[in-house]
Amino acid sequence: MSVTTQDPASASAPSRRTGNGAPLLRLKDVQKVFTTEEVETHALSGIHLEVRRGEYLSIEGPSGCGKSTLLSILGLLDSPTAGEYWLDGKTVQNLTFSERARIRNRQIGFIFQSFNLIGDLTVAENVELPLTYREMAASERKQRVSDALERVRMAHRAKHLPGQLSGGQQQRVAVARALAGDPLILLADEPTVMDLLRDLHAQGSTICMVTHDPRFARYAERTIHLFDGRVVEERGK
Ligand SMILES: Nc1ncnc2c1ncn2[C@@H]1O[C@H](COP(=O)(O)OP(=O)(O)O)[C@@H](O)[C@H]1O
Ligand SMILES: [Mg+2]
Repeated sequence: MSVTTQDPASASAPSRRTGNGAPLLRLKDVQKVFTTEEVETHALSGIHLEVRRGEYLSIEGPSGCGKSTLLSILGLLDSPTAGEYWLDGKTVQNLTFSERARIRNRQIGFIFQSFNLIGDLTVAENVELPLTYREMAASERKQRVSDALERVRMAHRAKHLPGQLSGGQQQRVAVARALAGDPLILLADEPTVMDLLRDLHAQGSTICMVTHDPRFARYAERTIHLFDGRVVEERGK
């Protein structure tokens, strides 16, 4: 097992926004095997991937090819069975549960396929929730919530409950919740708010999305195709 702590591609610690040219995300030969009593499923079989700061990457492939598994690993929601992952130049293999949670909270903006909004919290409360786990003054939290809701054009629904919104509006709120934390990267599982993501990328966000829909993949700068847990094709714009 490797004990590398620094991505060999990075010479020194990168600054948060500009970095030093090292990839923001880097996967080396990542494998993921799900094992149950009856079957072993090889969800990912040797993924090599780099995502640079400011990039908009789409991972396209059919249902069951490993997209959500890959995104969960990138978002530190799950761990690879084998292989290495560097986030912002640092390996994330040997982190404790709470260190992973802290990185998720501060550096990763995850937009879930099912949005994961809490039904009895208002839109504003949903967006604020991840910020309450940080040491942050209430005034700054409120400012970040209103800025994030402005950016996704949902400020006029701040006091609504998620169930009172359309699916597209709920996804916008999920994007606002991800943005409020000022993450290094936005990870989006099968998003449909493509114009919004394009605007955020134009404003500087690094985005990695997965999709089964080639029409959506075209919004990105670079697309990789996943099939049966492997990268089978890469295309730049
Ligand atoms: N928790 C799990 N346990 C067992 N198998 C899983 C689990 N999660 C995903 N899989 C399997 O891994 C493969 C990839 O799944 P997934 O990443 O969800 O694909 P996609 O998002 O591309 O539809 C599928 O065969 C799926 O059934
Ligand atoms: Mg999926």
